[in-house]
Amino acid sequence: MIGNALLQCAGLAALANLPLIRAVPFLQTPTTTFSSAETVTPAIVSVMNVTSHGPFTGPPASTTGALTASTILASEIPSAPPAPGTFNYTADGKLHGPEPAPFTPNGGLGTNGSAPVSRPQSDYDYQSLALALYQEWIEWDLFHFGLKNFSTNQFNSSGLNADDRFLIQYMADQEVGHATLLTNILGAQAPKQCTYNYPVSNVREFLDFNQKLTRVGEAGAYGFIPHLNNRPAAQLLLQSVAVEARQQLIFRQLGGQFPMPVWHIPAIPQSWAWTLLAPYISSCPTNQSRLIWQNFPALSILNQPNPARINASDAFNETTGAGINTLSTANITNSQLCQNATNPTNQSLNCAPAITQNRTIPLSYPGRQVFLHWDTPGKLVGPNNSYVTNTTARVPRWAAWVSQLNVTYSRLLNINLRNQTAFTFQPNVSTWDHDPAINGTMFLALTDARLNVTPFNLSQLNPHVAALGVYQAG
Ligand SMILES: *[C@@H]1O[C@H](CO)[C@@H](O)[C@H](O)[C@H]1NC(C)=O
Ligand SMILES: *[C@@H]1O[C@H](CO)[C@@H](O)[C@H](O)[C@H]1NC(C)=O
Ligand SMILES: *[C@@H]1O[C@H](CO)[C@@H](O)[C@H](O)[C@H]1NC(C)=O
Ligand SMILES: *[C@@H]1O[C@H](CO)[C@@H](O)[C@H](O)[C@H]1NC(C)=O
Ligand SMILES: *[C@@H]1O[C@H](CO)[C@@H](O)[C@H](O)[C@H]1NC(C)=O
Ligand SMILES: *[C@@H]1O[C@H](CO)[C@@H](O)[C@H](O)[C@H]1NC(C)=O
Ligand SMILES: *[C@@H]1O[C@H](CO)[C@@H](O)[C@H](O)[C@H]1NC(C)=O
Ligand SMILES: *[C@@H]1O[C@H](CO)[C@@H](O)[C@H](O)[C@H]1NC(C)=O
Ligand SMILES: *[C@@H]1O[C@H](CO)[C@@H](O)[C@H](O)[C@H]1NC(C)=O
Ligand SMILES: *[C@@H]1O[C@H](CO)[C@@H](O)[C@H](O)[C@H]1NC(C)=O
Ligand SMILES: *[C@@H]1O[C@H](CO)[C@@H](O)[C@H](O)[C@H]1NC(C)=O
Ligand SMILES: *[C@@H]1O[C@H](CO)[C@@H](O)[C@H](O)[C@H]1NC(C)=O
Repeated sequence: MIGNALLQCAGLAALANLPLIRAVPFLQTPTTTFSSAETVTPAIVSVMNVTSHGPFTGPPASTTGALTASTILASEIPSAPPAPGTFNYTADGKLHGPEPAPFTPNGGLGTNGSAPVSRPQSDYDYQSLALALYQEWIEWDLFHFGLKNFSTNQFNSSGLNADDRFLIQYMADQEVGHATLLTNILGAQAPKQCTYNYPVSNVREFLDFNQKLTRVGEAGAYGFIPHLNNRPAAQLLLQSVAVEARQQLIFRQLGGQFPMPVWHIPAIPQSWAWTLLAPYISSCPTNQSRLIWQNFPALSILNQPNPARINASDAFNETTGAGINTLSTANITNSQLCQNATNPTNQSLNCAPAITQNRTIPLSYPGRQVFLHWDTPGKLVGPNNSYVTNTTARVPRWAAWVSQLNVTYSRLLNINLRNQTAFTFQPNVSTWDHDPAINGTMFLALTDARLNVTPFNLSQLNPHVAALGVYQAG
C-alpha cells in the first residue's frame, strides 16, 4: 500500500518535471513475512511431452477385448427390492442413538476413528480408479496439445487472449496432480500415459471437444464414487473431480455457451465413460494393464446441435465423428458463425467467449426431431486398437436421455436395420418445476428396454445398451 502510494507520488513528480525527492518512510511497518525454505514437496508422477498425435498405425494387437475373469457368474445382475433395513431409520430430526463423542451424531461410514488408507480394496475399486487415471492422462495431454497446436493468432481470433490461454495452461498443469494422486493410490501397475488422436482442427473445435470430454470424465467419476469400497480414495478423487467440473464449465464459457443450464450434473457408468474416451487413445505402453469395461458401439447424432452456429439445431452431419459427437466448423459459412454475430435488435445471437451468454435461439428444444445412426459391434477401438465394441442388446427400440437426475425414454421411430438409422423426438420433461430435465452436455443411449433406473443403478441398463453418444442439448 505505502510502497504503491510512494510510487504514484514519484510518478506525479516526474510528470511535473520536478526534481525527484527521495522518499523517506515515515512509518515503521511491522515485519510479517519471513522467508522460509519450502517444506518437502511430494514428487509428481513422471510425464513425457507427447510429441506425436494421430491415429494408431501399429501392427494388430496380440491381446484384444476387455479384461475378463475366469468366472462370470451371470449374464446380468438381477434387480432386487431395497436392502433390508433401508426404511428402519426414523427421519424426524431427533437423535436415535448414543453420540460417539460430543457434537458427533451416531452412524456414518468410516467415522469410527480407524486411520484412513487410500488404496483399492476390490476389483471394482481398481478398475474404476484406473479408468479415471486414463481420463486424467488424456486431459493432461489434450490441453497442452491445444496450446501448442494452435497459434496465438488463432487463439486471438477465437476471442481468447493471453490470460485465457494461461487459464488453459493452468488447467493442463493441474492434471498432473490428479494423475499423480491416482497413480499413488493404484500402485506400480497403474496405467501410464499414452498417445492420443484428437478430432480437432481449430480452436473452436478444440474447446468443444474439451467441454464434452471433461463432461465424460466428470459424469464418469460421479457414477462410481459412491460405490467404491475404499472411501478414503473416493474422498480424494472427489476433490479432483471438483476441479474437473470447473474445467468443464470454463470450456463452455470459452466456447460462448451458457455455463450450466442444469440444476444437477448427470452421472454415467464406467463402461459409458470408457466407450466415449477410448476412441481418442492411440497407443499405450506395451505392458499396460487392461480394463474390464465394455466399449459400446458408437451412436452418431446426425443433426447434433452445433454450438458454433447461430442456429445450432440447423446443423446436419456437422460433427467430427460418432460417440462424443463434437462440433465441426468445416461447413459453417461466415454468416452462420455465431462468434461475431451481431443483431441490432438483439445481441443474444453472439457466442464469443464470455462469463455467460444468453442465446435467443436455443441449441435444442423439446419436440426436436433427432436423427440417429449407430455402429454395429465388433469394431476395434482404444489403445493399440485392442478393445472391441460390444453390445448384448437386441434391436434398439428406445432412446434413453440421461441428463440431470433423470433417465427419460423416447420411442425410436422409422428404425432401419439395413443402415442402422432411426429418429426420435426430444422429450419434454422437467426434473423439478422450472428445471427442464434435458439441457446441457448430456448422454443419449439406444436401448432395447425401458428400465426404471436412477443415477445410482444406471449400470443395470448396460446389458440393454445398443449404442451410446453425447448429445448437445444446450
Ligand atoms: C516438456 O515441455 C516443457 C515445456 O515445453 C519443458 O519445460 C519440460 O522440461 C518438458 N519435459 C520433458 C520430460 O521433456
Ligand atoms: C430393521 O428393523 C427390523 C425390525 O425392527 C429389525 O429386525 C432389523 O434388524 C433392522 N435392520 C437393520 C439393518 O437395522
Ligand atoms: C471401524 O469400523 C470397521 C468396520 O467398518 C472395523 O473393521 C474397525 O475395526 C473399526 N475401528 C475401530 C477403531 O473400531
Ligand atoms: C497440430 O496437430 C496436428 C494433428 O496431430 C498435426 O498434424 C499438426 O502438424 C499440428 N500443428 C502444429 C502447428 O503443431
Ligand atoms: C471475430 O472477430 C475478430 C475481431 O474482429 C476476428 O479477429 C476474428 O477472426 C473473427 N472470428 C470469426 C470466427 O469470425
Ligand atoms: C437450456 O438452457 C438455456 C440456458 O438457460 C436456455 O436458453 C434453454 O431454453 C434451455 N433449454 C430448455 C429445453 O429448457
Ligand atoms: C456425413 O459426412 C461424411 C463425410 O464428412 C460422409 O461420409 C457421410 O456419408 C455423411 N453422412 C450423412 C448421413 O450425410
Ligand atoms: C459438409 O457438407 C457436405 C455437403 O453437404 C457434406 O457432404 C459433408 O459431410 C459436410 N462435412 C462436414 C464435416 O460437416
Ligand atoms: C436471458 O434469458 C432469460 C431467460 O430467458 C431472460 O429472462 C433474460 O431477460 C435474458 N437476458 C438478456 C440480457 O437477454
Ligand atoms: C459381446 O460380449 C459377449 C459377452 O462377453 C460375448 O458373448 C459376445 O460374443 C460379444 N459380442 C461381440 C460382437 O463381440
Ligand atoms: C437409411 O435408409 C433409409 C431407407 O432406405 C434412407 O431413407 C436413409 O436416407 C438412409 N440413411 C442413411 C444415413 O444412409
Ligand atoms: C425424473 O423425471 C420425472 C418426470 O418425467 C419426474 O417425475 C421424476 O421425479 C424425476 N426424477 C428425479 C429423481 O428427479
